[in-house]
Amino acid sequence: MKRLWAILIIGFVAWGSSAAVLAATPMEERVKNTLSRLTLEEKAGQMVLGEVGYITPDDVMTYNVGAVFCGGGQHPPSGNTAHDWLEMYNAFQQAALKSSSGLPILFGVDAVHGMGSVESATLFPHNIGLGAANDPDLMYAIGEATSREIAATGLNWNFSPCVAVAQDVRWGRFYESFGESASLQESLVKRYVEGLQQYNISATAKHFVADGATAWNKRNHRSSRELFNPDAYKMDQGDARIGNKELREIHLVGYREAIEAGVDAIMISHSSINGVRLHGHSLILSLLRSELGFQGIVVSDYESIHQLPGNFGEQVIQAVNAGIDMLMEPRRWKYAISAIVEGVKTGAISEERIDEAVSNILTVKYKRGIMDQPIKSPDPALFGAEENRKIAREAVRKSLVLLKNEGNLLPLSKDSSILLLGPGSDNVGMQAGGWTLTWQGTTRKDVKGISIRQSLESVAVENGGNVYIRRDDAAKADVVLVVIGEIPYAEGVGDNGRLTLDSATAHKDNLQALADAKSTGLPMIVILLSGRPLLVTDHIKDWDAFIAAFLPGSEGGSGIADVLYGDYDFTGKLPMTWPKTAKQFSETIYKRNYKERDYLYPFGYGLQLTD
Ligand code: BGC
Repeated sequence: MKRLWAILIIGFVAWGSSAAVLAATPMEERVKNTLSRLTLEEKAGQMVLGEVGYITPDDVMTYNVGAVFCGGGQHPPSGNTAHDWLEMYNAFQQAALKSSSGLPILFGVDAVHGMGSVESATLFPHNIGLGAANDPDLMYAIGEATSREIAATGLNWNFSPCVAVAQDVRWGRFYESFGESASLQESLVKRYVEGLQQYNISATAKHFVADGATAWNKRNHRSSRELFNPDAYKMDQGDARIGNKELREIHLVGYREAIEAGVDAIMISHSSINGVRLHGHSLILSLLRSELGFQGIVVSDYESIHQLPGNFGEQVIQAVNAGIDMLMEPRRWKYAISAIVEGVKTGAISEERIDEAVSNILTVKYKRGIMDQPIKSPDPALFGAEENRKIAREAVRKSLVLLKNEGNLLPLSKDSSILLLGPGSDNVGMQAGGWTLTWQGTTRKDVKGISIRQSLESVAVENGGNVYIRRDDAAKADVVLVVIGEIPYAEGVGDNGRLTLDSATAHKDNLQALADAKSTGLPMIVILLSGRPLLVTDHIKDWDAFIAAFLPGSEGGSGIADVLYGDYDFTGKLPMTWPKTAKQFSETIYKRNYKERDYLYPFGYGLQLTD
């Protein structure tokens, strides 16, 4: 009788577990099976992300590294065409397949306004301009086109979108945000992520959380990148002093939207909340995992765990236990692997935590087809395609905000004679801003695209107009158009406490160009190329028309010509409040000490030609 019971119980248990097997999806099964054959060292290898330049294909093979990336400005040693990138990708991938685990890699890049690291990419307006356009379908199209261009290089992981709700115009990353109101993240993030994840590219919502709320402060942190420009680091990577309500109502919105769209990864912020570094914060588990239910990869930011207390081994343990699955350790990836293994051996990290992290990584590799088709041979014509450039041009014209148009100076007639002045008038690098070819962007002439001068000249040639570029030709012109703005910058290097037209991030020729233009006595149009509002209060009385063009990218010239000549009307609206004085820099729409009329322009402001 006892034996009969035993048989029945065993049978029941076996049935139960096969029912559980049936309940698991085929993908879950594949992940589980793969995980079960990995050694601890192989699992730890999957959890690191090394940077090209500090890691070779051989390293990836030897250490079972889970992912590599090209940070801003990194590109293949052989050259910087999409083809060079594809060869680099396949070389790393082939090496990964020869590792003891045989697992392919994720290969990441910051395609934050198109695949900007690569020569001849389509460069879309930076997010701040897309916030001004506020067009969800356009976001999907931009995401999809970006995804197509990434796919043409073989890569499979994008460190975008930045869903920061930037509250202070002094922040060097202001332009990476759609703007100061969470309503913009609500309207744009979901569609953008959906578009970005087409063509099996993983997107990354960043930087969790409240990176857009850090306080302006005296050097409130230390990091390796601080060495780059010690004086500039006043706000980036700082501390957000906010309460729960503000955190949820403003800064969490983009993550909710991204998760709903099925975003594959979320990057943790270099910054802190109320003095606690996010890379070791309990919010990763309590808010991101438990409350929002995020199941994808949580990735650390560039060497950011180094800002946690303790030695490197202790930092790795804190980060992994805080819920980070993959460590972006560009140079110290090998030590990070040893620290993870050591952490498990000493019991400081549980094996369950490691299994959970590696499962999250493997799930993305299966979901995106990387396990099944790691080696790529895409159609090279996908890169920089005319179809993508058309989308970028549409994005430009929708992102421009007309702030002043005295006496209906605009639109210009196509046969006008224009005196074109200013440092941004023939400079695609300035149109493109940071994260273009290099981390900080460049004003060198090698950024491919259409400058404002080129597009105005082609309209003039076809219609009997003229474009003069020397002040001495003023007498022949009907109108003077001056293009001023900021030089390219990225991250903390762009922190700027003054924001005047001659301050640190402003182009040094701005004031001279404005003075030259004014001296002509001609009606004056000013276009500002910048990542944020600059203080123009003392100058604007001299300007008849004023357009905020943000950082419009490679098709900037064409998109600007489209509205200047009235082929399309302006539809862009300010995604931030435009300060009148430096005192208003930290005035967000959530914390107002001034009345709307006290600012230069309110949030949402923008004229049309028909106004
Ligand atoms: C930035 C991230 C970026 C990473 C990799 C970091 O410094 O904060 O936004 O994705 O570098 O380039």
